[in-house]
Amino acid sequence: MAETTDVVVAGGGVIGLAAAWETAGRGLSVRVVDPAPGHGAAWVAAGMLAPVTESTFGEEALAGLFVAAADRWPGFASRLQDATGSDTGFRTCGSVAVALDASDRAAIDQLLDHQLRLGLEASRLSASECRALVPALSPAVRGGALMPGDHQVDNRALVLALIEGCAGAGVKLTSDRVVSVSLDRDGAAAGVVTESGELFQAGTVVLAAGVGTPQIGGLPEGVVPPVRPVKGHTLRLRAEAGREAFPHTVRGLVHGRHCYLVSRADGTVVIGATSEERGYDTRVQAGAVHSLLDDARLLLPAVDEWELLECIAGLRPGSPDNAPFVGPTSVARLVVATGHYRNGFLLAPITAEAIAEHLTGGEIPAPLAAFRADRRVEAARSERPS
Ligand code: GLY
Repeated sequence: MAETTDVVVAGGGVIGLAAAWETAGRGLSVRVVDPAPGHGAAWVAAGMLAPVTESTFGEEALAGLFVAAADRWPGFASRLQDATGSDTGFRTCGSVAVALDASDRAAIDQLLDHQLRLGLEASRLSASECRALVPALSPAVRGGALMPGDHQVDNRALVLALIEGCAGAGVKLTSDRVVSVSLDRDGAAAGVVTESGELFQAGTVVLAAGVGTPQIGGLPEGVVPPVRPVKGHTLRLRAEAGREAFPHTVRGLVHGRHCYLVSRADGTVVIGATSEERGYDTRVQAGAVHSLLDDARLLLPAVDEWELLECIAGLRPGSPDNAPFVGPTSVARLVVATGHYRNGFLLAPITAEAIAEHLTGGEIPAPLAAFRADRRVEAARSERPS
């Protein structure tokens, strides 16, 4: 039988890996079980850290969490870089939201007013101010807004650095899928059972398997919070070799459709993302690729000249109120961290801190404490368009 650890984490996406790394850093022994660590939704993501542009109507409670989460990023990225020597691509780049037609402009203005009422940092831009910030923008762009507090990380570099950081901190990585939680005779979590039939015993079980979390069995009904897959396609293109194509993330509204372009320092650009309710389906579909490219080239005509490197699709763990579930559950020694939906990267450091604090006898940080894993949420979903 495999050795027991203090903690076993089911799921090696950005949340599971960050939580494992923080927890191991506090002296606990940790195992992460995932069939392909870092290669689920975390690999598909664009790595936007966008507390302002992701703050929208009806989600006022999340805005404070997003800002507190963003504040953790510089320290988290530099600690990880110090521990591993790997550059995570964390950059303070800001977002420019741009509108393609008059009704897109009105929608951006309305959202800007809402974001300003929440105390977020943002300012209105004329069309020429948008083009001064991103010269490659189409002359058709009607204006927009600047959100200087939105940043980015290279999602793939980050998860690879976390895997390296975990290995350096003594975390055991097991390539397998958790199929159930094993309970002791008092009904407390005592370990996990994997697809290949192994039992990994642990003092505490952390379920951080994103959209796979509800598929983990062995638990009483209602313990695992309700998360659902929300499919997103992203595209990767090479604009310029070795030179960033434009300095800010572009968040476009294109005849009512959302589209973003995230420019990396190495000259690649990530275009995203669709938002589709199709269950557990990660096929890349021609129509989704077509509409993302079409919207992106209306915003930046130069897209036509870029090399298309990759089209990929993944599943965001959506929750009924678009907020995460983090913390202990009604089952003793069972902790959950899932439902991060569109903001897994933004929320990873604060979630990791919360899990590590909880596992070492501390408190979950205040901005996350409202988003308990055992809270009851209404089924009414607030849909996000992209
Ligand atoms: N965070 C952007 C997305 O989920 O598409």
